[in-house]
Amino acid sequence: APRLLRTAADLQAALTQTPGQKVGLVPTMGFLHEGHAALIRRARAECAVVVVSIFVNPLQFGPSEDLARYPRDLERDLALAGEAGADLVFHPGAGEMYPPGFSTRVEPSGVSDGLDGASRPGHFAGVATVVLKLLGLVRPDRAYFGEKDWQQLAVVRRVVCDLNVPVEIVGVPTVRAPSGLALSSRNSYLTPEQQERAAVLSRALRAVQAAYAAGERDTGRLLGAGRAILAQEGELELDYLAIVDRNMAQTPYVHPDPLNRVLIAARLFGVRLIDNLPLDPG
Ligand code: PAJ
Repeated sequence: APRLLRTAADLQAALTQTPGQKVGLVPTMGFLHEGHAALIRRARAECAVVVVSIFVNPLQFGPSEDLARYPRDLERDLALAGEAGADLVFHPGAGEMYPPGFSTRVEPSGVSDGLDGASRPGHFAGVATVVLKLLGLVRPDRAYFGEKDWQQLAVVRRVVCDLNVPVEIVGVPTVRAPSGLALSSRNSYLTPEQQERAAVLSRALRAVQAAYAAGERDTGRLLGAGRAILAQEGELELDYLAIVDRNMAQTPYVHPDPLNRVLIAARLFGVRLIDNLPLDPG
């Protein structure tokens, strides 16, 4: 089982016991699933010391979002993290991360402006701030993030580049249920039947991929292929369906690039879900 550390001091004491070893960090908000496990296994394969952080970061939740009801199960998380190869689990309280007097924010822009950045004001500043804190606490050689949160991955890459943080950011492919639904801690808000219906998001993304593969390059028509699928689900409230380039920019006409991505965010049965796929799976 991994060692559980609840304070920065205990974490740093544990890390000084492994000098000169390659350290991997997997930041999470807990309620771990096979998507998180894929990140931890990748870190295990590449690093001598694997640290998993579990912290439901209040800074990245809006006032009307699900901070209070975000799912938590530390016992299960410790078992899953240990099985996937974690050595240390850092699980601080909010007061440890944000003590009285805390007053600094990392404010990304550009890649963080549109899409989730527009729908969730302050969200990416909250993510960037906590990720920079975790990188400062753990000082890992590598930090692992899921492609499932594509814009978050772009924001983290931007922040560590802009602020000269000496870490290698590793992106890990999205793990899905057999239905195609991207695994997410928030899927636990849905019944099994609702989760099956939520697979419509990934079906819409695949329809856009198929239109691209058939030669379509007009963004409006590509997205139309996805919207036709989404129209089959009456409970779905679309936030955005968008095609972005490597800079997270949206353009009317798609120029071939392996980093082009189709992204979706939608509310289904009151739960906000996101997903994305490469436009060209290659
Ligand atoms: P959380 O949603 O717990 O996700 C932690 C990491 O797991 C993120 O890098 C996310 O992209 C990755 N992940 C989630 N579902 C995945 C899936 N189905 N396949 C592959 N990877 C998946 O993202 C956060 O927490 C927070 O914003 C955090 C980065 C920890 C900062 O608070």
